[in-house]
Amino acid sequence: MATPPPLLRRVAAAILLLLVSLASAPAARADLVITRADRKVDLTSHIVRVLTSLKVENSGPEPVSQFLLAFPNVQAKNLAAIRAFGTEGKVKGASTLLPIEVVQPSGVPPELTFFSASLSKALEERKTLHLDVLTVFTHSVQPFPEEITQAESQLVVYQDSAQYLSPYPVKVQTLSIRLPGGRVESYTKYPNAKLSDSELKYGPYEDLPPFSYSPMVVHFENNNPFAVAKEVIREIEISHWGNVQITEHYNIAHGGAKLKGEFSRIDYQSRPYIRGVSSFRHLIARLPPRAHSIYYRDEIGNISTSHLWSDSKKTQLEVEPRFPLFGGWQTTFTIGYGLPLQDFVFSSDGKRFLNITFGSPMEEILIEKLIVKVVLPEGSKDIEVSVPFPTKQGQEVKYSHLDIAGRPVVVLEKPDVIPEHNLYFQVHYRFNNISLFREPMMLITGFFLLFMACIVYMHTDMSISKNSPSYLAKAQWDEIQSIIQQIQAVFDQSLAVHDKLEATLRDLSRSGDVQSCKAARKAADAQFKELAKELKPLLTSLQSSPQSYQIWPKVEELVTKERDLQDKLMTRHSTVVDSFEKKLRGQDVENRIAVQQQKVAALRQEVESLLEYISEI
Ligand SMILES: *[C@@H]1O[C@H](CO)[C@@H](O)[C@H](O)[C@H]1NC(C)=O
Ligand SMILES: *[C@@H]1O[C@H](CO)[C@@H](O)[C@H](O)[C@H]1NC(C)=O
Repeated sequence: MATPPPLLRRVAAAILLLLVSLASAPAARADLVITRADRKVDLTSHIVRVLTSLKVENSGPEPVSQFLLAFPNVQAKNLAAIRAFGTEGKVKGASTLLPIEVVQPSGVPPELTFFSASLSKALEERKTLHLDVLTVFTHSVQPFPEEITQAESQLVVYQDSAQYLSPYPVKVQTLSIRLPGGRVESYTKYPNAKLSDSELKYGPYEDLPPFSYSPMVVHFENNNPFAVAKEVIREIEISHWGNVQITEHYNIAHGGAKLKGEFSRIDYQSRPYIRGVSSFRHLIARLPPRAHSIYYRDEIGNISTSHLWSDSKKTQLEVEPRFPLFGGWQTTFTIGYGLPLQDFVFSSDGKRFLNITFGSPMEEILIEKLIVKVVLPEGSKDIEVSVPFPTKQGQEVKYSHLDIAGRPVVVLEKPDVIPEHNLYFQVHYRFNNISLFREPMMLITGFFLLFMACIVYMHTDMSISKNSPSYLAKAQWDEIQSIIQQIQAVFDQSLAVHDKLEATLRDLSRSGDVQSCKAARKAADAQFKELAKELKPLLTSLQSSPQSYQIWPKVEELVTKERDLQDKLMTRHSTVVDSFEKKLRGQDVENRIAVQQQKVAALRQEVESLLEYISEI
């Protein structure tokens, strides 16, 4: 690297500050000495795992029951999980998980975050303890450059200290960094630094004082899927009829270097491993062994290109989105599956409890916000939740068919969830078996009532068919509809005559043929009379039908309006013909008929909408 990238410069500045304050840090806490510290950093994925093996000795007279772990704040803010296992004695044996909490010892630099592990038994003078500390960091391998083209490999940067940062002196220490195996652009070359194949080693370093810190940076190729879920909603619904239904909604992005420039699908399809080396195509979900009814869909529909394998230990689902994901690209999808109730819901002390893993079954995924919803059966009471790490907890109610009071829903929310959070959690609740039969009873009662209604109906109605009131009512209604259709046909013809009459007026202004215009008017008169004669019996029978009370006023209105329209049309027709014979100027004719024109147009509209209304019954 010719000029240090801005990212590195920024980090270097932060580290400098840190070193200044470390120099003034107080000497060792208690009298602990780390006789050996071996750190193994795994950088093969985008989630960084650091395993630190420590051999600790108490060199002082006082027994010690707390062990402090220190991290620079820049690192601590990305710490997603920390676990410490302790074993007392010279040789390693069975280890116990130690409780860990954040502490603020006095007189330490503010740039450091401290955790304290409580030893299961105080460490006596001259005694030795083995500690294995697992720390998992997110957002700690940064793409550099931040944007790459389709064909470029993704390069990333990781920073740490070549020496173990600890409030205790360290006698011997090593650091070993496992890389994914591609190109290594550069790394900080301290004495005793060595790169071989995909392993970068620092040390051994001996006899370092407390708070020793030497910043190191490694810049290397990493094309493994940087699968980051912006949000996952995981719903676990318990049905005491034998099923636990899981539905998971994902919004996943490629969290690596952003794709710059055009994406060429043709390039990608011809040589996906060269022309899309930084992208990823699938994700693997490891489901419980007896998962069934598995589906995978996105907003378009079910996706059948997913693959499924299963054996007695697991069911593996390969999820393949519709397009490869490049840096910055996103996709949303849902997977769902059923699990046997007896594998996950148990009873104890008259209560039931769900015991199931918390996180997503997707491999190596970072979930920036995970919401787990446990939907309990309707009528569940005394709900208690126990999760092995802090979560934000709330409750909701979910309604589905046949629910009356709704189902209680436990809502758990946690940021920055990694595979290490895939631990078991429990939801305890009290549930009365009677409640289980409420919904089936509702169904049975419902069917019974329906059945009874059918019997009653058959007896009263079908057996006396043609004289039954409902049959008659239906027959009458059919008749009304047929009359309405005929009335409609009459009015349609009438409107056609209107149109024809209008057309003769237009012809008149062109040809000046007054005689044919008058003849047309006479013909129209005759047609209107004819239509009126046709309409009369239809109106009479409609009016006499008892079921027409709703439609009748509208039909009546239609008749009046149409008659009005006829009158207006005729008046206008006479006016125009008359003006023409008197040889009035065009403008004067326009003035005389303007008002009539408006009335005709308004009436025509009313007639048409009434016709539409009655046609819709
Ligand atoms: C998708 O598949 C699931 C399970 O096979 C099925 O229940 C669901 O109805 C399907 N959905 C569509 C839209 O085909
Ligand atoms: C939950 O299930 C796991 C795996 O079967 C088991 O190891 C654990 O003890 C169970 N937890 C409880 C509280 O039953």
